[in-house]
Amino acid sequence: MLNLPPDGDVASVPVAGSAPATLAGASPAPGAPSVFTFPNRIVFGAGAAATLPAELARLGVQRPLFVTDAGLIAAGLVDPLVGPFDSRASVFSDVHANPTEDDVLSGLAVYREAGCDGIVGLGGGSPIDCAKAIRLLVTHPGRLVDYDFTRVGIEPIRPDMPPMVAIPTTAGTGSEAGRGTLIQLPQTGRKTIALSPHLLPSAAICDPELTLGLSPALSAATGMDALTHCVESFLSTTFNPICDGIAVEGLRHLFKGLETVVHDGSSLEARTSMMMGALLGGISFHKGLGVVHSLSHALGSEGRVHHGTLNAILLPHALRFNRATASPRVAELARRLGLGRSGDAEGHLVTLMELVLIRLPLPRRLGDLEGLSRDRIPHYAALAMQDHCHRTNPRPCTQADMEGLLERAW
Ligand SMILES: [Fe+2]
Repeated sequence: MLNLPPDGDVASVPVAGSAPATLAGASPAPGAPSVFTFPNRIVFGAGAAATLPAELARLGVQRPLFVTDAGLIAAGLVDPLVGPFDSRASVFSDVHANPTEDDVLSGLAVYREAGCDGIVGLGGGSPIDCAKAIRLLVTHPGRLVDYDFTRVGIEPIRPDMPPMVAIPTTAGTGSEAGRGTLIQLPQTGRKTIALSPHLLPSAAICDPELTLGLSPALSAATGMDALTHCVESFLSTTFNPICDGIAVEGLRHLFKGLETVVHDGSSLEARTSMMMGALLGGISFHKGLGVVHSLSHALGSEGRVHHGTLNAILLPHALRFNRATASPRVAELARRLGLGRSGDAEGHLVTLMELVLIRLPLPRRLGDLEGLSRDRIPHYAALAMQDHCHRTNPRPCTQADMEGLLERAW
């Protein structure tokens, strides 16, 4: 466990030797009211999965479509949840690690053929995002590209969609509490987001017992995704102090559980910390993310590289990059985590992230990953520039900045 000071200790920790901690970047723009939306109904805790029949009944769902993947079926996680519904339930499990439009259309066909009236997204971010996209197309015309947030914003997505319950089986993505769905689209050649408060699942069931069987590598990679959500959302330029506090609390839970779940996956206490940290990360990124996610979305568009692993490699480099213009804000995060006892608080935060990566069973450089080519850095950088996440990065990014970050992480 990574030791952070107790809550009461943090507020009084001085930030000696660095710029005074301020709320730089966390003020509303004059004349531009901020909008805060809060998440969905959340059922949290060991054994919570048993509430699924009651949750679906509350939502009026009689014939659910379960969207999941083959690995979870093989792991035995799907049958116990589908069982109570007998023949009323359908299962769609052909979801890729980075879900594609074809995955969504195939799932939509199953939904319609079986006469379903609600959706259960069961799995990591991929099945849950695929379930959200199926849910969208049940009632919305056209193709997914018509709802590309970077082109059309949130307006085209209406609330009239079938009910959906999200059940995460990893502690990372936060999609169970998020408003977006990321799908690889042929028209854009990249992972493309549809975003709307209406895409929040009707309910999320977060049961840490479902994560007890995760491998050390997947526990580390998904955990680093959650950790990156909390860091990037805290640093994002959007004014939302509610989410700032949630991000800090998410980091406390993640630091508490991360190393333990890697080395002792059977610890329900640590799994519970991670699931709460991931949930809080998913809520915190309602205020936006940053350059790490734009780069990892771009690199993830190329193949099967795990999103969380990419984030883990890129995060220390992005923190260094952001210090040029967001130093007070990085220092503020470091101080709120209790890292400002001596000297350079923000430097301690960068070092901490590097130390976390060293202590986890993850690759440390992009060059260690299969399926990526250094020659294609300009292409990856161009895709990253089209992604929405860097719009709220505390330091504006150019294509050259993106290329430089990828070079340093290679
Ligand atoms: Fe992420």
